[in-house]
Amino acid sequence: MRGFCCVVLWIFPIFSSTIAPPERELCRKVPEKCRTEQNVPLCIEDRMKTCENKDHRGPVIYDPKYFSIQISSEETVDTERGYLIHISDEALQRSRNGLGDPNLIVSLINETFFRVSSSLNTKKGNDSSKPDTILHGQTVLGVWLGKNEVQNLSQPVQIRFIDTKQSQNGTCVYWHFEDNGKGNWRTDGCNTTIDNGDFVCSCNHLSFFAVLIELAPEMTSSVFQMCT
Ligand SMILES: *[C@@H]1O[C@H](CO)[C@@H](O)[C@H](O)[C@H]1NC(C)=O
Ligand SMILES: *[C@@H]1O[C@H](CO)[C@@H](O)[C@H](O)[C@H]1NC(C)=O
Ligand SMILES: *[C@@H]1O[C@H](CO)[C@@H](O)[C@H](O)[C@H]1NC(C)=O
Ligand SMILES: *[C@@H]1O[C@H](CO)[C@@H](O)[C@H](O)[C@H]1NC(C)=O
Ligand SMILES: *[C@@H]1O[C@H](CO)[C@@H](O)[C@H](O)[C@H]1NC(C)=O
Repeated sequence: MRGFCCVVLWIFPIFSSTIAPPERELCRKVPEKCRTEQNVPLCIEDRMKTCENKDHRGPVIYDPKYFSIQISSEETVDTERGYLIHISDEALQRSRNGLGDPNLIVSLINETFFRVSSSLNTKKGNDSSKPDTILHGQTVLGVWLGKNEVQNLSQPVQIRFIDTKQSQNGTCVYWHFEDNGKGNWRTDGCNTTIDNGDFVCSCNHLSFFAVLIELAPEMTSSVFQMCT
């Protein structure tokens, strides 16, 4: 009788863990949850790979900082938050990698988490507290397509910053993680065009994107140095 009790007690934890699996974090909430981390971009990048895209329990909530849609063919998606994203067929194939149609996830993140000491801003000096560039709209766009890495594309993806009303020149940049987890803004692998007041970034991979606006004329040269 005592042995039976023990068996019951040992089995119970196994059942309870299968009945109530730990809830996965919602992708929509990842940037907010990462706010307090020391390296916010790295935290977001990591957690976006394991998070749950859909909140199955509640009604669909409009979130001005989060957009998600399933992609099944090459298309241009209007996020209705000021950005158009074109997903090339190659990017889609790369992302599928034998799995089903992936979700495109777009997250608008406060640029303050992407301030660096070894960035474009400091290329011509060492004072990062007085950057002579700003990010367009002060917003960084995180773009993911499924859980697989989407890199090294010969058919670029396009991120269009709509109707920016900018008279200045801008340069598309992406956040590059170094081996130590820190990051900086880089331009290689992204081309910038200006089309009817829109900044169009054509890039060979997905990442965190932004447009750097040059405030000082001498910035132009250091940005172009980065390209070569
Ligand atoms: C970004 O964060 C800073 C510092 O927390 C805050 O002052 C600013 O209002 C935020 N910007 C936006 C667009 O939310
Ligand atoms: C950093 O800035 C200070 C003051 O502007 C300057 O004296 C110093 O030489 C700079 N150091 C480097 C490595 O550029
Ligand atoms: C990128 O793609 C090219 C050809 O499309 C290939 O030669 C190269 O090895 C790839 N590089 C990486 C890092 O995957
Ligand atoms: C943009 O940059 C180009 C080349 O550096 C320059 O000729 C042009 O005047 C700039 N335009 C604006 C609006 O700053
Ligand atoms: C950027 O432009 C160059 C020259 O036109 C081209 O070779 C390259 O493939 C383009 N890269 C992307 C990511 O569009």
